[in-house]
Amino acid sequence: MTSARGLVAAQSARFGALDPLLPPAAEPPMDGDVITAALADGTRVAGVISHQSFERHSITRLWSAAEVWELLPLVGTTEGMDALLARWRRHLDGQEIGEDSACVVHWPSRDTHAARAFLDHGMVPLSVLGVRLRTPQARVPRTLTIRRATPHDLDTVLELSLAELEYSSFVGSTIVRPEARVLKRRALAERLTTASPIWLAERDGIAVALAECAIVSSEPGTSAAMRLPRGRWGYVNCVSVLPGARGTGIGQQLVAYAHQELHRMGTVGTYLYYNPPNPLSSVFWPRQGYRPLWTVWEVRPASALR
Ligand SMILES: CC(C)(COP(=O)(O)OP(=O)(O)OC[C@H]1O[C@@H](n2cnc3c(N)ncnc32)[C@H](O)[C@@H]1OP(=O)(O)O)[C@@H](O)C(=O)NCCC(=O)NCCS
Repeated sequence: MTSARGLVAAQSARFGALDPLLPPAAEPPMDGDVITAALADGTRVAGVISHQSFERHSITRLWSAAEVWELLPLVGTTEGMDALLARWRRHLDGQEIGEDSACVVHWPSRDTHAARAFLDHGMVPLSVLGVRLRTPQARVPRTLTIRRATPHDLDTVLELSLAELEYSSFVGSTIVRPEARVLKRRALAERLTTASPIWLAERDGIAVALAECAIVSSEPGTSAAMRLPRGRWGYVNCVSVLPGARGTGIGQQLVAYAHQELHRMGTVGTYLYYNPPNPLSSVFWPRQGYRPLWTVWEVRPASALR
């Protein structure tokens, strides 16, 4: 791939012109399968496909298929996504592909020409990475008690987190696997013990909502640097309001508080993933100041790529 460097540089320019918050295009991984395609004018585009299998006790399997083929396109400034996806389809032919599998591409949300190609090849915009830069926010009147969760709150945090998992499983990438409770309990116990920024909102002493967050650094060499501008970011991993209490302003209050606290921790902004088919979160997050930066295009099973 002698021209890979040129394609990465051109792609960085494409990203910069599309969206000022996109970091430069990532270098392709060293260990993937390289595919190339020729365009009508003789230009060549390329892509690197990495293949990953997640074992039964991997928490990744709660939001991902068990086996994933991920394409990193190197199309530079060309309109070559369609040709590259056609080449990817042929690359999959003859491979043994199970049902619990997916083809995945992360691509800038504002690249609508590429979006057309993903749709034409049977991929769906299953998740969006939304960002919100640190900006002064309107005061939200507080009627709830909001406090940091401690290890003693594990059961409460787990139930709220599982409620979100279940809701999201109907409208996004999340899967309620038989191991979900055990995997979530283990992960949440660790996050509570290490004092991750996790908050509970209480009404009359009863927890009605959870905001489970983290601090993530986007620095050269980190995986976050592929997606976010440099700096310290607040990651909003899970927000969940008890089913009977949704739509009454609780989520808005809790998120306003979480933003304020994450910004006090020195973050430049906050980010999260939401599912466009989720009728609650797709309205809720833009109302809280988020906008799409990356779209995660996906097709399950992987054999359904057209
Ligand atoms: C998404 C969720 C956290 C929002 O919290 P909430 O307490 O229900 O939301 P709020 O009542 O604070 O609403 C805030 C805004 O979201 C929008 N919204 C909330 N519920 C809505 C509904 N049923 N229909 C349309 N818009 C809605 C409204 O625009 C509202 O703003 P407005 O009152 O100024 O118009 C909550 O509904 C939830 O837990 N949903 C299930 C799990 C989930 O989807 N989590 C997010 C995964 S990314």
